[in-house]
Amino acid sequence: MINPSNAPTSRFLHDVGLQPGMRVLDIGCATGLLTRELAGMVGTNGSLTGVDSNEERLAEAKNQPAEPEQADINYENVDLSENLPDWEPFDAITGRRILMYLPDAVETVRRLVNFLKPGGMMIFQEHSPMGTPFSAHPIPQHGQAHDWLWRMIKAEGGTTTMGLDLPRVFEKTKLEVDHYRAEAIMLGSASGQGIEDLANFLVERVVEVGVADRETMQPDTLADRLAEERLQASPIGWDMAYLISGTRSH
Ligand SMILES: C[S@@+](CC[C@H](N)C(=O)[O-])C[C@H]1O[C@@H](n2cnc3c(N)ncnc32)[C@H](O)[C@@H]1O
Repeated sequence: MINPSNAPTSRFLHDVGLQPGMRVLDIGCATGLLTRELAGMVGTNGSLTGVDSNEERLAEAKNQPAEPEQADINYENVDLSENLPDWEPFDAITGRRILMYLPDAVETVRRLVNFLKPGGMMIFQEHSPMGTPFSAHPIPQHGQAHDWLWRMIKAEGGTTTMGLDLPRVFEKTKLEVDHYRAEAIMLGSASGQGIEDLANFLVERVVEVGVADRETMQPDTLADRLAEERLQASPIGWDMAYLISGTRSH
């Protein structure tokens, strides 16, 4: 699935100075989408460790073919709420949509800070639904889908304020904020922007957590209804990606 909300990550990683040769830890790596991108950025002289607590997602990550110009990736099953392994220090620790799923993000980040080399960077991308979706035109279909999505995330135990909480997390964990920005994820009228895929995966999970039933969601027509609305109302501000980087303060 192409998630339109992932587009800002590589821009931010470049801007904050992620470089070839770095040793990077990617937390909450899931199937390794960001991890592989990082492995390409640090190149063959760098190294990547990807950690997640979901064995199935890790197995999928391990099954992905390696690119010739990318760093070796070592995947480990780690529960970030438990004791962390005895890692050698990293040049950068990254994570995308992981802090929002941790019961105590501040405590996890506080422990992770100890695994940064002096001058090492902590880099996260998180999201929050406040202020989205928006358009100059009425968007009831996108408004409804957005509401289902975020109620589902909340029902699954996710924190909906994490994008906006990031500077406070850094402050509490003695990290100096170097960069903090938000990027709006704008949907145009063309198809193939990830939102149709989202509509498909959304239905199963929304129904499973009891946020809405199939009759209400009408899965057979959901993607088409969203596409049709985008023809009338695009551009639509669908999501906001919040990105932060910082270094350890002494
Ligand atoms: C939204 S996914 C992350 C997506 C991934 N970072 C990417 O950009 O493709 C959230 C991941 O966090 C993992 N996760 C949740 N709680 C965790 C924990 N306590 N320890 C380790 N991983 C955890 C889940 O298993 C899931 O794979």
